[in-house]
Amino acid sequence: MSFLNTLNLTGKDKSVGLLLGLILLSHTERTGAKDKSNVVQKGKGSTAKLKEIMIGRCFNYLGTINPNAGNKDCSKLWEAFLRAFSEKDPCKITKEDYKPFLNMADHDIPIGQSIFWSQTKELILQYTDVTHKVMPLENTLIGFMLDGLNWCGKLSSPGPNYEACPEWNSCTNHSMGSFWRAASENYAMKAQGEVTVLLNGSANAFRENSIFREIELGKLDSKRVTSVHLWIMDNIDGPDKESCGVGSVAVLENILKEKKIKYTCVDNYKPVKMLQCVFKLDRPSCNTGT
Ligand code: APR
Repeated sequence: MSFLNTLNLTGKDKSVGLLLGLILLSHTERTGAKDKSNVVQKGKGSTAKLKEIMIGRCFNYLGTINPNAGNKDCSKLWEAFLRAFSEKDPCKITKEDYKPFLNMADHDIPIGQSIFWSQTKELILQYTDVTHKVMPLENTLIGFMLDGLNWCGKLSSPGPNYEACPEWNSCTNHSMGSFWRAASENYAMKAQGEVTVLLNGSANAFRENSIFREIELGKLDSKRVTSVHLWIMDNIDGPDKESCGVGSVAVLENILKEKKIKYTCVDNYKPVKMLQCVFKLDRPSCNTGT
């Protein structure tokens, strides 16, 4: 009010000024100020050309990689995906927000081809590319369209925020964290027949808070899954921290027993080990004897 007094305004002008001030304040609250909400956005912004990459990947997947995925409209898929996080606080995106996109993009996973991983992403994708025997989440349409990309929105404007996103671990309902949790849940529920799990024996293999432990394992349906094959792979340079029957792997085995799901467990499964050795042939444990 004192600021308005200094402007020497009449009573009517003062009320108009006050009204404008209030409107301005509420707009700032709804938009800019809340974009920064309680979380400082220090992470990388959305991947440049996000829309073009996702639509391109979608056409590629349906046209050449997995024509069995059926008829899908790639532009509509992009729109459903964008609606999940556009014009919203990037820390308030839930698994439910992605449901329309997931339902539209969903397709069958061949029986016996579901494979889960934790801290072994690179290895599992190499194994998939070489053998064509499995279909991890990243080789379904949903995972393929988003693998390796970054995205978030902001309250104040539509579309992806290319400048900055919150760090992954800065909030629970992060736009990307919620997506991978929703996609993983959806993927695990569809597993049928024999299922493979590739874990890292040089780390805390069955890590608490991992998506595999917290989401996917619980969604495996013992009526649909006939057996689980655990492959515990050490890094070529070690250490051999965990193995079948040891440490967190033993915890996993007990959970499978409780769920009445049959399982096998192999340490350093040879075909995968050979794949590791392709890149590090000089290591003693890769000695091929030739
Ligand atoms: N691209 C980028 N980030 C991903 C991807 C992906 N394709 N999949 C998962 N993430 C994120 C998740 O936040 C995940 O927690 O990277 C993290 C990887 O952590 P890890 O401990 O290595 O593995 P985990 O948390 O168990 O997640 C892997 O979830 O994506 C599914 O089916 C997949 O079984 C796999 C599990």
